[in-house]
Amino acid sequence: MKATSIAQLLQQEPSLVEITARGWVRAFRSNRFIALNDGSTLHNIQCVVDFENFEEETLKNITVGAAIEVKGTLVESQGKGQRVEIQVSEVEVLGTADPEDVKLTILSPKRHSLEKLREQAHLRVRTNTFGAIMRVRSKLSFAIHEYFQKNGFYYMHTPIITGSDAEGAGEMFKVTNLDLKKTPLNEDGAINYKEDFFEKETNLTVSGQLEAETYAMGLGKVYTFGPTFRAENSNTSRHLAEFWMIEPEVAFNDLADNMDLAEDFIKYVVNYALENCADDLEFLENRLLQEEKSKPQAERSEMALRDKLKFVLENNFKRVSYTEAIEILKNSKPNKKKKFKYLIEEWGADLQSEHERFLVEKHFKSPVILFDYPAKIKAFYMRLNDDGKTVRAMDVLFPGIGEIVGGSQREERYDVLKEKMETMGIPEEELYWYLDLRKFGTCVHSGFGLGFERLVLFVTGMGNIRDVIPYPRTPGNASF
Ligand code: 4AD
Ligand code: MG
Repeated sequence: MKATSIAQLLQQEPSLVEITARGWVRAFRSNRFIALNDGSTLHNIQCVVDFENFEEETLKNITVGAAIEVKGTLVESQGKGQRVEIQVSEVEVLGTADPEDVKLTILSPKRHSLEKLREQAHLRVRTNTFGAIMRVRSKLSFAIHEYFQKNGFYYMHTPIITGSDAEGAGEMFKVTNLDLKKTPLNEDGAINYKEDFFEKETNLTVSGQLEAETYAMGLGKVYTFGPTFRAENSNTSRHLAEFWMIEPEVAFNDLADNMDLAEDFIKYVVNYALENCADDLEFLENRLLQEEKSKPQAERSEMALRDKLKFVLENNFKRVSYTEAIEILKNSKPNKKKKFKYLIEEWGADLQSEHERFLVEKHFKSPVILFDYPAKIKAFYMRLNDDGKTVRAMDVLFPGIGEIVGGSQREERYDVLKEKMETMGIPEEELYWYLDLRKFGTCVHSGFGLGFERLVLFVTGMGNIRDVIPYPRTPGNASF
């Protein structure tokens, strides 16, 4: 018989119709009450077994972590907080879990630290916290596709292996099939890529933007949603070496349209999570409240998780130029609290996350879109402003996160782009196709990249990006 998911069972009324449920045992009390979870929901369903009716051998194998199948009927629950439970008539242990082994893992029913859970990333999805995070992550992915599909965008698959460095930051993972120990080097000591699979140097993509631009020039509105890779040695709670990015690109959009799109899009997906992940968000919010209680008063977050999400929905994102932001930072008194002590000194400096969070959390008290950054600190493809020193870049800054989106209006003028590439040492033969777009019907166009894990961090309220992706890749860590 086909099993019904526990999420569905918990919605049903008591009935005499026999049902089947399968899942993993979370607890087994008094040889009578099994708490069963199948991942479809945060909630366990209580399964009541009258132990006199079952063989001792079977009961012995119903242990925490075991996979079981139960048949029975849904009856009204006597317990608090649940409408129905399963009165079990048959139980089969599908996969045992030896309690002695379980004791050594995070499956053992006690509170484990997030660090400990990271060490057993293959098991952590069976905890309430990670079940909740990963369900929210999945729902957010769906909402992202839904938003773009509803709004006339086409989903484009950009290549993972590329020959270019979209961001020009040189933070790439090389791809090669050469056995570097055996392949002779060139006379100048460089790797001989002629012998390589692609007969040239290639790397994992840092962004699908440049390819997405080529498609926006034919399909009009496109978006990508795929993995991207950065070999930046940033061991922080907001950086991953492998992360997922959503990159819309729209022909004929200028920077203001781009900001409108980013704001509308983010609000849509955050609202989707609030409406469709209520149980999981409530659980994560309570978890955070517990955590906050253990902190000194001054360090506690002022807002509960769902209020923070609503706050994003209810506020217009404040649009501020980089130059204005620098003035604000320069005129702010250094904050005694460590967090904001590094205030900016010079126009032209890149903002650190302290600065970004100061603007969002202390100064404007709303999400902020900073725009018109100095050309020197941004990538080559951004549209140069008439002042000759700033570009039409935009970063969306969020409370607790800092930069969540980076985007720009693209340089659509052939000569300006060509010159910029020359001064930045980007070989024309590598990006001739990108320049071509500016030769054949060039037009104003814009796009941005949203770091998916930063969005999941924000929505779940978690503190470390390693805890919102199944298998995080960070410097020195690619286990699993
Ligand atoms: O600001 P970035 O580098 O912009 C681009 O890659 C552009 N090509 C996007 C575009 O215009 N199509 O990255 C975009 C976003 C950041 O705002 C951040 O949210 C996320 O990607 N991001 C990272 N997330 C996790 N780990 C990292 N190492 C990240 N680097 C960037
Ligand atoms: Mg950026």
